[in-house]
Amino acid sequence: MTVAHNIYIHVPFCMSKCNYCAFFSRACAAPDWRKYTDDILSEIDFWAGKLGRIDVPTIFFGGGTPSLMPTANFSEIMERMRDRFNIAPNAEITIESNPGTLDATRLDEFIAAGVNRLSIGVQSLDDDELLFLGRRHTVADALRLIDAAKSRDIRVSADFIYGLPGHNATKVKALCQNINKIGFSHCSMYELTIEPNTPFGKMNLDMPSNAEMADMYNTIDETLNLSRYEVSNYATPGFECRHNQNIWDGDAYIGIGNGAAGRVFLDGVWYEQLGAGARFEPITTQSRAVEKIITGLRTTRGLLLAPDIKNAINMEYLNQNQELLEIADGRIRATKRGMLILDELVLNLVK
Ligand SMILES: C[S@@+](CC[C@H](N)C(=O)[O-])C[C@H]1O[C@@H](n2cnc3c(N)ncnc32)[C@H](O)[C@@H]1O
Ligand code: SF4
Repeated sequence: MTVAHNIYIHVPFCMSKCNYCAFFSRACAAPDWRKYTDDILSEIDFWAGKLGRIDVPTIFFGGGTPSLMPTANFSEIMERMRDRFNIAPNAEITIESNPGTLDATRLDEFIAAGVNRLSIGVQSLDDDELLFLGRRHTVADALRLIDAAKSRDIRVSADFIYGLPGHNATKVKALCQNINKIGFSHCSMYELTIEPNTPFGKMNLDMPSNAEMADMYNTIDETLNLSRYEVSNYATPGFECRHNQNIWDGDAYIGIGNGAAGRVFLDGVWYEQLGAGARFEPITTQSRAVEKIITGLRTTRGLLLAPDIKNAINMEYLNQNQELLEIADGRIRATKRGMLILDELVLNLVK
């Protein structure tokens, strides 16, 4: 018997690389969309052959910049998935988008093909900061896309980056107040990470201290009109990203497209998956449990204390550190204090 699998489809092309970004994508103004679409279609066929007609609760097109894709190619991919899998009628279908790549007409075409959730990379509400980050759009471009998306019957999310050089709690508070004024049901708030092989990695930037970063993190929690449900994710209750929640909960997912990884569950065994056959290796119950602990503890609802999790953790540590970890309703979760030292916490918790 095969279980339901979520699907992640990676689109590794961008108009240009942003100064901070180490995601697997390359700057390419005119990708060979025919070839890339054909590759994705054959991967879909590959998984249908391997797993059968699986139930698919969520699909997430991430990148890169999936909103660059011609909508006819996108529709073909959606049709092939509907043909090969059971896509739930209420499936969440998300596409990541960059302002400037999507006008109202193309947005409607993506929606007609099945998209019901748009994630918009807004990053900042300050044009100078957008320039510094290496973005190709202005705040006005982002607001236009937000308006278009909000006037349609889809869910809308926005990504922001905080903790830039010169940022402090006061600045982040003003950002959150402006986000509240625009009004979102979902936002991802990412602390700027300096990645080695990026322009920022070579610039020796004057970054805020750890204490200032912690202040900004708490300010977001206090100011944003949304509830934190994961370290970097906020939503009106009921509007959380189901795709990510399923994956953080430890559900199975397939990664399709260049560089896309998944965790496939077949005949009672978990597999680490990369591409269509590039890697397909069994992983032990203990390793899978540790992965679930790492992602589950990042969420405010924590993770189900199921037998595989109980076997993987050091119960003595759990019982002796109730200021860091709590058990309620059969779930284990990090307390507010625990959330601040998650990496250390996980190291101590797993056997
Ligand atoms: C897969 S990326 C791309 C989405 C889309 N291409 C865009 O740029 O809007 C998802 C998000 O990760 C965040 N991100 C990428 N690199 C980051 C970094 N070094 N530090 C903090 N956030 C980062 C950005 O907010 C970005 O929107
Ligand atoms: S942040 Fe988005 S647009 Fe910028 S390089 Fe990364 S994936 Fe591409």
